[in-house]
Amino acid sequence: MGSSFCRTSSTYQVQAVLDAESVGAALEREDAWSIHVTDEVASTNDAVLDLPVGSETVGTVLFAERQTAGRGRRGNVWFGGPPESNLLFSCRVRPAWPLRDWGRLTHLTALALKRALEGYPPASPLVKWPNDLYLGDRKVSGILAETKMQGGGEASAVIGVGVNVNVQQDELPEEIRDLATSLREVTGTWIDRVGFAAGILDRLSDILSSPAEAFAKQLAELKKAHYSLGKPVRARLGVKIIEGTAIDLGSEGERVLDVGGGKRCVLASADEVRVRR
Ligand code: BTN
Repeated sequence: MGSSFCRTSSTYQVQAVLDAESVGAALEREDAWSIHVTDEVASTNDAVLDLPVGSETVGTVLFAERQTAGRGRRGNVWFGGPPESNLLFSCRVRPAWPLRDWGRLTHLTALALKRALEGYPPASPLVKWPNDLYLGDRKVSGILAETKMQGGGEASAVIGVGVNVNVQQDELPEEIRDLATSLREVTGTWIDRVGFAAGILDRLSDILSSPAEAFAKQLAELKKAHYSLGKPVRARLGVKIIEGTAIDLGSEGERVLDVGGGKRCVLASADEVRVRR
């Protein structure tokens, strides 16, 4: 594994290289995260589980410059971009909430990413339920949250995040060129990944440290930034297709669709959700 760090100080240098010490130094909250950076792994979502548990109060995070088997939801491959351009990382956390509430982690991470992206005007992030962040009509980030059993039968949650930070449109694979964007493309400026990474971790630690009762308020904020709210969508669950208008989020972040005839359909998850044009 490359560099590791767990402590903060007050200054850091703007730089292209992402190193654990610089990210740690840019954090607002001391000791929240134990930070690790590596050049290459198969998937940070798996590798983060092998890292030692330290004195961190929120969790352990592993950043990688390259993944040889980076994955998205439903077995999709995640395009990581050229090394030193984007953020690919996974956080291992053990929320103090009951296991049945861990499904909230995707929504809460989306909220943290939304807040962090808002720090880069004119970026105006929207959350495409359940796990994508959009800038305009293009995807800028995806979340893959998984629950893993570790030795001793203890469960850990792994939150994997990929963000297109400095990748340029012509560096994107052709098949996603019209569907994806990066923070740099939208702001027109090169983004310091160290400051941005610390900004995301700060927001995530704030949110994960808030009491479970805060969830309703957090959902209300998410709802205001929902990409598909009010739009006609097509959701696929296996071979089943459900069409309707996205009208709300349920109390656990479910997607509520108005399917016509005065009927509603509440989706806890879906294999694919597309906005119909
Ligand atoms: C999606 O949009 O389907 C989720 C993409 C999640 C990608 C990230 S990159 C870091 C972490 N490691 C992985 O293998 N996947 C997640």
